[in-house]
Amino acid sequence: MPGARISGLGMHVPDRVVTNDDLSKLMDTSDEWIFQRSGIRERRWVEGDVGATDLAVPASEIALKNAGIEASDLDMIIFATLSPDWNFPGSSCLLQARLGVPGIATLDIRNQCTGFVYGLSIADAFIRMGTMKHILVVGSEVHSTGLDNTDRGRDVTVLFGDGAGVAVVSATDGDSRILDTDLHADGSQAAILRTYAPASCQNPRLTQEMMDEGLHYPHMKGKAVFKNAVEFLPQTIHTVLQRNGYSLDDMDLLVPHQANRRINEMVGRMMKLPEEKVIHNIEYFGNTTAASIPMALCKAQEQGQLESGKLVVLAAFGAGLTWGANLIRW
Ligand code: ACO
Repeated sequence: MPGARISGLGMHVPDRVVTNDDLSKLMDTSDEWIFQRSGIRERRWVEGDVGATDLAVPASEIALKNAGIEASDLDMIIFATLSPDWNFPGSSCLLQARLGVPGIATLDIRNQCTGFVYGLSIADAFIRMGTMKHILVVGSEVHSTGLDNTDRGRDVTVLFGDGAGVAVVSATDGDSRILDTDLHADGSQAAILRTYAPASCQNPRLTQEMMDEGLHYPHMKGKAVFKNAVEFLPQTIHTVLQRNGYSLDDMDLLVPHQANRRINEMVGRMMKLPEEKVIHNIEYFGNTTAASIPMALCKAQEQGQLESGKLVVLAAFGAGLTWGANLIRW
């Protein structure tokens, strides 16, 4: 049976490092508070006019090189982001132009932190249909230009960073392949993590009053996010393993979304996972939403943890609410 495998990975982050101490000069916070609650020491922020597509270009070039293909070999670009360059058209079109491959299909995914997991499943489905051979799945975010750098926004601002991670997904007849994906959402909880404005359900979409209230910045009910994440992440990991006949012991590596180290450590404890089976990189990059899983995969590869034959689970939880997991035989 034809299937799809990840044939190349790449990532790119801006050069500017913003430490917790740097943030404490902008708002009333501290390295101790941030590190204790999130595991974050520093994050990368863009300088000047840099958008999600600008970060995605170098990450895509690295992923294509690692896959041993040219951009002209691509059949489709899937771009997951909650921080698109423009309201429309989507960043997938902008990236397609920058890579110089006019005519191929493009798709934007708005599933926030779960965007990469959803994107990978769509690439897998298109490739299994047999009409496509190579699909670029991108997670890229520029958060820093949309954060509230005052005391009002400190609970959210300290968590997020900029970055891009990309996977080339290619057709295969071999055993190394994406085996399954489990996907979920609960829109009734959309308001616990959202950026409200500009809003097409408001006329006008953006007013000075809305900006004075900070409605163009992300708002989060942190405790509710935490509670849902530690409930749904273990569920989706169990589901994707069990329905393919595997147990937790069979899983060689868990690559979770890097929302907050405390969330991932609690999930690890709840599932009794040995520490070396869970990838973390939040310490240096913060939460990069759709980019966090492909960036964490790059770290796993660098550390030699993605050897052929390993059973790997990618699991994410994010705004929407959305959550899900991919099961991959590497
Ligand atoms: N620095 C210092 N103090 C702060 C900061 C900050 N950056 N932010 C909030 N505080 C203060 C609050 O004002 C509050 O002060 P008060 O007691 O005087 O009122 C105090 O710290 C405690 O605030 P809480 O909101 O109760 O803090 P909590 O212990 O819940 O931690 C946190 C907040 C870290 C956000 C926590 O709820 C959490 O981990 N939630 C998970 C959310 C998350 O990680 N989201 C990531 C993005 S979503 C995603 O990717 C899925």
